[in-house]
Amino acid sequence: TSVAKLREHDGSGDPGTRVRVFGRVHRQRKQKDVLFVTLRDGYGYLQCVFAGILAKTYDAITLTRETSMEVIGEMYALPPGAHAPNQRELHVDYYEIKPGWKAPGGEDAITNKVQAGGDPQILLDNRHLLLRGDIASSVMFVRDAVEFAFHQTYRELRLRKVSPPALVQTQVEGGATLFKFDYYGEEAFLTQSSQLYLETVLPSMGDVYCIEKSFRAEKSLTRRHLSEYTHIEAELDFITFSDLLDHLELVMCRVIELTLADPVIAAYVKELNPEFKVPERPFKRMKYSDAIDWLKEHNIPNEDGHPHTFGDDIAEAAERRMTDIINRPIFLTHFPVEIKAFYMQKDKDDPRVTESVDCLMPGVGEIVGGSMRMDDWGELMKAYEREGIDSKPYYWYTDQRKYGSSPHGGYGLGLERFLAWMCKQHTVRDTCLYPRYMGRCIP
Ligand code: 4AD
Ligand code: MG
Repeated sequence: TSVAKLREHDGSGDPGTRVRVFGRVHRQRKQKDVLFVTLRDGYGYLQCVFAGILAKTYDAITLTRETSMEVIGEMYALPPGAHAPNQRELHVDYYEIKPGWKAPGGEDAITNKVQAGGDPQILLDNRHLLLRGDIASSVMFVRDAVEFAFHQTYRELRLRKVSPPALVQTQVEGGATLFKFDYYGEEAFLTQSSQLYLETVLPSMGDVYCIEKSFRAEKSLTRRHLSEYTHIEAELDFITFSDLLDHLELVMCRVIELTLADPVIAAYVKELNPEFKVPERPFKRMKYSDAIDWLKEHNIPNEDGHPHTFGDDIAEAAERRMTDIINRPIFLTHFPVEIKAFYMQKDKDDPRVTESVDCLMPGVGEIVGGSMRMDDWGELMKAYEREGIDSKPYYWYTDQRKYGSSPHGGYGLGLERFLAWMCKQHTVRDTCLYPRYMGRCIP
């Protein structure tokens, strides 16, 4: 009998065949003299039935959850509606637990570690064990599928993937959130965004994207800020602002469609977020100035507790309240120059504002930030000056405006925020394998 992964017992074929599988004890229950053990191997679940003498020896070793084991037996089909994964059941006639495979019980049992009286810090210390649970692992399966769907979508749209450096000497999104370190005696940073590098490859490779880590020294603890996150960024050449919005909508909807096309993943999403579906296109478009009016009308104050006025940053709380009330994806556009990054293209008709967009999703708020880029050399030089940025280390970025400039734009999407929205998770911390934020760098 050859070894099979549990996913192979998906309801097709195999009744009557002899099967040998490896897995971990996910659940177990005893009914009279029969033991039902659900094994798990990351590919699926299989109900294994221990009866007669086997049930007795099994009992004798007091099997604990998470113990690894090998089982051999005959596969049976169960009638529809039977409470077993895929209506399959393995009648075990041989099992083996190798030395070291047994998981502890009692005080040290995994059940104690992953409950921890609900203390979030203890749970985070035990994230390596928590990941074995149904909810945490479902989110990770969805994450794997979503990331793959982004690659697929970008392939379909003929974007090319590049890998920009993570160790840099330029900032993209302001000095306040830079992680600085000593680079052979020089000051360097962990990258905040690959955008500037993506822009430099447009002339050679056409439209490009990358899925890399970005780092932000966020000195506050919020539901949606991490110190290290997965940044999905794309840059498109010879486009208009309206092309950029159309592309963004298309990408997000296509990614969801591809993700939900896998029935296993769709089932996980349904369990995590029963109401979730592909959003309707076009997304609601709202100018920053209209958002300010909307916030005033709805008596949602700014950070200082005053009514919002033009020029205010729309803070996280206000942004989320607005998005939750409107309750659909929003493209918030045309932010004032002063509250946005130096590289953003100004609106031709209203130079107070930029051709910029944040995509806001219910439950999370901003999940994407993007813009058209300043493509004029002189204007960019002025922008560095306005922001107090020394243009010297940016010579390679500035050169793009010298050697064949073009109208172009792009965006960055936070994968963890996208997942928090899609999987209805309260915090982005629950959408990464091992979250990093102020005060936590372990496990
Ligand atoms: O809005 P941001 O700062 O934009 C940029 O970095 C652009 N340079 C991207 C580009 O145009 N290529 O970040 C983009 C997105 C945000 O909308 C958010 O989803 C995510 O990155 N993000 C974070 N996610 C988790 N933790 C943080 N601290 C994040 N900061 C930004
Ligand atoms: Mg932003």
